[in-house]
Amino acid sequence: MIAIDQHNLFSTPVWESQFDLENEKLEAYALSLKNRPGADISNIGGYQSLKINFNNESFNVLGPLINQINEMLFMISEKYNFRKTARVNELWININETGDYNMSHVHPGAVLSGVYYIKSNGTGTLDIIRSKQESYLWQSIVNENQNRETWSGTSFVPKPGKVVVFPSWVEHAVTPCEGQRISLAFNATF
Ligand SMILES: [Fe+2]
Repeated sequence: MIAIDQHNLFSTPVWESQFDLENEKLEAYALSLKNRPGADISNIGGYQSLKINFNNESFNVLGPLINQINEMLFMISEKYNFRKTARVNELWININETGDYNMSHVHPGAVLSGVYYIKSNGTGTLDIIRSKQESYLWQSIVNENQNRETWSGTSFVPKPGKVVVFPSWVEHAVTPCEGQRISLAFNATF
């Protein structure tokens, strides 16, 4: 046997935390948007709100959440030596009902993106998808016994209060849920 040192040189960070916020208030706010015009971007079925102007509209209900997200973004920016601190600049609400999902996509123009789960029963996972080139190469040479170095993707299970943040260029999708699933998605930039 020879000793082999392995250097895992490049990776895709995905950050996760759990916030303790009043999700009932956030849920009521999210549902109140449903009567307004929505967007059709990555969602297949489901309701996606337009971008929320959080400087004035409903700041009382969204303020604590945005503050905590910005605190998390500050910590990430420091840890990764970002040239500036990333802050939330866009946010919107997603309401998916049974069978609704979001196609694979990226968030152009942002630095970090993420999602906060307001209501969920654990269905409708957030799938983080590896680049097609890397996926093609690894899947061409590995067998079924894979690990996180060779995976083509992985899933994050939604849970109320959970927040997941990832670099905006990372491809992701949302699988169909059973029952209502409400989340707040956001972009952050410098
Ligand atoms: Fe997204």
